[in-house]
Amino acid sequence: MRDVLEQLESKREEAHLGGGQRRIDAQHAKGKLTARERLDILLDAGSFEEYDMYKTHRCTDFGMESQQIAGDGVVTGWGTINGRPTYVFSQDFTVFGGSLSETHAEKICKVMDLSMQNGVPLIGLNDSGGARIQEGVASLGGYAEVFWRNVQASGVVPQISVIMGPCAGGAVYSPAMTDFIFMVKDTSYMFVTGPDVVKTVTNEVVTAEELGGASTHTKKSSVADGAFENDVEALLEVRRMFDFLPLSNRASSPVLQTGDPIDRLEPSLDTLVPDNPNQPYDMHEVITKIADEGNFFEIQADFAGNILCGFIRVNGCTVGVVANQPMVLAGCLDIDSSKKAGRFVRFCDAFNIPILTLVDVPGFLPGTAQEYGGIIKNGAKLLFAYAEATVPKVTVITRKAYGGAYDVMASKHIRADVNYAWPTAEIAVMGAKGATEILYRSELGDADKIAQRTKDYEDRFANPFVAAQRGFIDEVIMPHSTRRRVARAFELLKTKQAEAPVKKHDNIPL
Ligand code: HXC
Repeated sequence: MRDVLEQLESKREEAHLGGGQRRIDAQHAKGKLTARERLDILLDAGSFEEYDMYKTHRCTDFGMESQQIAGDGVVTGWGTINGRPTYVFSQDFTVFGGSLSETHAEKICKVMDLSMQNGVPLIGLNDSGGARIQEGVASLGGYAEVFWRNVQASGVVPQISVIMGPCAGGAVYSPAMTDFIFMVKDTSYMFVTGPDVVKTVTNEVVTAEELGGASTHTKKSSVADGAFENDVEALLEVRRMFDFLPLSNRASSPVLQTGDPIDRLEPSLDTLVPDNPNQPYDMHEVITKIADEGNFFEIQADFAGNILCGFIRVNGCTVGVVANQPMVLAGCLDIDSSKKAGRFVRFCDAFNIPILTLVDVPGFLPGTAQEYGGIIKNGAKLLFAYAEATVPKVTVITRKAYGGAYDVMASKHIRADVNYAWPTAEIAVMGAKGATEILYRSELGDADKIAQRTKDYEDRFANPFVAAQRGFIDEVIMPHSTRRRVARAFELLKTKQAEAPVKKHDNIPL
């Protein structure tokens, strides 16, 4: 019996060594942790249960039959994060460069199937040279099996990808179909074709970092939702985000008891909006003052800064926040911000996370770049996402809500449940100056007259009461009481029931 136990122990030790100490050292020398070290940080201590530790590939080409490494380049199983379960896979770059073989794919597919069946999220730590070159089409088939499962799982369980090394070729499409992608600065990259192919085809000279590093994907392409300094920070932040999410679309988000009173007043909000309507203020301040303990997990912080998206808790419960940011492009809606927020709203709706919308929007960004880029179709994404969302929706207009953007930003008309406005709100077709210049074009030569006309328009429309008279705004609230108002609104909306019409699926303008 003792022999058998010892054998098991030595088999485990061998598997734990992956591609061997030399390759582990090389991994460390690049500033990267190994697949197992990463899981140790991501998961609660001692909670990891590994599956398929001894699985090996079946390839007999290119001398592969003599190179069998237990686990075949990916560590899979499940563990807990602050006590709540998640399935995981962590690619082991020390084994054939973490490349994906048929059996490597089978291991990933096994945890994906269990994740969907049991309603438990899936977190993938990606560090791979792509398709196992020695296997050819078997490996491509493996990828497609993973892709198919990504799509089946979408909207059923949260799927999170962390890119912690190379992720190239068709391999990028698995993370791309998950809910969130996080990257590690300097050590990770994602691209469909690498710098050499780019040089051959387009004659562009570009480094891997420029082409697909964390900075590129968080600032330019918006493929990634966040970038972190190193492996440890990335994994700790994933733990932080995980706490906001439900385990599946059939579970509710965790409730974290808070010592932060829901009736906490914030007098500083009463003076946050400047007298000058063209002067910006930081919408982050409103978000953090509404949130329990000021805790805001921001998504895509470095992209389309004119809209802010992320998770907070209010009275212990997860809320998704979408907020115009007057500090960037005056908070207008454009292609990038509409896509960013539209996708976030759809995530929240899919996973029953209520949505808080904070509005200070002067309209859609004008210009040929926007029109040629398809602002019509892209702006429609956000409108569509809000209108189809059946989760509880609470809206607070802090200042401007002009034109079509008023309708888009979770207005009553597209079925927000509770719509509040601060006394500083201005709800109108457009700003007073622009309106006057159109209505009184013939008087444009007379500055005094125009000034008076502008003032008249402001007096009539630059307030929330015209909308409130019609019931488009449920109440004009004191800014200092926003947290209490929002918390109470969401509390009552917990029992909301709203059915969407029966259909196969909608046809969101992609
Ligand atoms: C098999 C691979 C491999 C692969 C790397 N290795 N990639 N083995 N299949 N795809 C092995 C190497 O032989 C090496 O083995 C070890 O992993 C580490 O690789 P290095 O090259 O020494 O590491 P590094 O210098 O850090 O470079 C990493 C790399 C490079 C940039 C990823 O290895 C590389 O370019 N690999 C090929 C990438 C590629 O073209 N993949 C196919 C893409 S197409 P030893 O034994 O020396 O440690 C694709 C299609 C997917 O993925 C389609 C889905 C639909």
